[in-house]
Amino acid sequence: MKLNEHYKNLQESYLFSTVAHKVNAYAAAHPSAKILRLGIGDVTLPLAPAVVAAMAAAVEEMGRKETFRGYGPEQGYPFLRESIRQYYARRGVTLAADEIFISDGAKSDLGNILDLFAAENAVLVPDPVYPVYVDTNVMAGRRILFADAAESNGFLPMPDEKVQADIVYICSPNNPTGAAYSREQLAAWVNYARRRGAVILYDAAYECFVREEGLARSIYEVEGAEECAVEFCSFSKTAGFTGTRCGYTVVPHALAGGALNKMWLRRQTTKFNGVPYIVQRGAAAVFTEEGEKQIAENLAVYRRNAARLCRCLDGLGIWYTGGKNSPYVWLRCPGFDDSWKFFDYLLEEANVVGTPGCGFGKNGQGYFRLTAFGGEDTTAEAAERLTRLLSRG
Ligand code: MLT
Repeated sequence: MKLNEHYKNLQESYLFSTVAHKVNAYAAAHPSAKILRLGIGDVTLPLAPAVVAAMAAAVEEMGRKETFRGYGPEQGYPFLRESIRQYYARRGVTLAADEIFISDGAKSDLGNILDLFAAENAVLVPDPVYPVYVDTNVMAGRRILFADAAESNGFLPMPDEKVQADIVYICSPNNPTGAAYSREQLAAWVNYARRRGAVILYDAAYECFVREEGLARSIYEVEGAEECAVEFCSFSKTAGFTGTRCGYTVVPHALAGGALNKMWLRRQTTKFNGVPYIVQRGAAAVFTEEGEKQIAENLAVYRRNAARLCRCLDGLGIWYTGGKNSPYVWLRCPGFDDSWKFFDYLLEEANVVGTPGCGFGKNGQGYFRLTAFGGEDTTAEAAERLTRLLSRG
């Protein structure tokens, strides 16, 4: 037996596991500390009542002989795929239901999709970005190129014709920076991919936070994107499904002459048995009138939290981006070049947890991410503590 040697090229542990480990160690050593966690982007509000009611009804169905269901379709139940198709249609994007595949979340599919691509493809990943894109390609031994994001380009790198990439990752609104591409900017990426015959893997997990006109919520708002892009989305951040697990991936027929859609179906039918019926019923309730209204109320809470954090940074005169079309606020560490040192400083002096920017790539060094997914009281108290600590100079 030979091990996959590529695993040796990974960081010792996944970013959020390292953060959790450090925070738990601090908490164990300081049992009376009231630690405020704005690190991992995990939601804190409960599932919407419409979702819970739909799941409860599905549980009842599963408990009756006449309505019990065993294995479901690997690509998802038609009722949920149709709801998603209509959700896109309302935003002017036409999809066929069999281009939509239900999954247990964007993270899994972002990793799993790599089954479909040859190992020799060169991958282009923005830096900084969600670490899963890099780690999954390191595991497969693929060559990784980086698209530099910085304050100078608003943390939104644009294509460089000299860079020869075959697989391009885009996350918009971006995790961790909160920066979001306009349709025009995405059109430049679509043109790049089409000219090169590359594929774009578009992570739209935070699309529900986009508010500004002109910013894209789906890459398919750009003409021609269906010929070069796969889109990943999730109910995690939209509807609080981080623990419930449900997402979807769009693989258009126009991509690679239909080959990718067929290959993904083949892969899923072999390696995946679908998302539980109960969960899919809950996800479908997200698109009902009642569900949409309740979810909008939850999102408004997270938006208020983001605005609260932004006001705190404005007051302190600290540079930041994000927070407006995103649940993440990305700030320059005041007085620190090293993100982990700033992490330790905040944890020890204010008992506030964030995520060190360098964990998202080398360009994140000296930056820090705060999430707006905390409770309202937690966020308000964290902002007060930050103001007290950081205004001391
Ligand atoms: C994050 O904090 O970046 C996210 O929660 C990670 C994820 O969605 O897997």
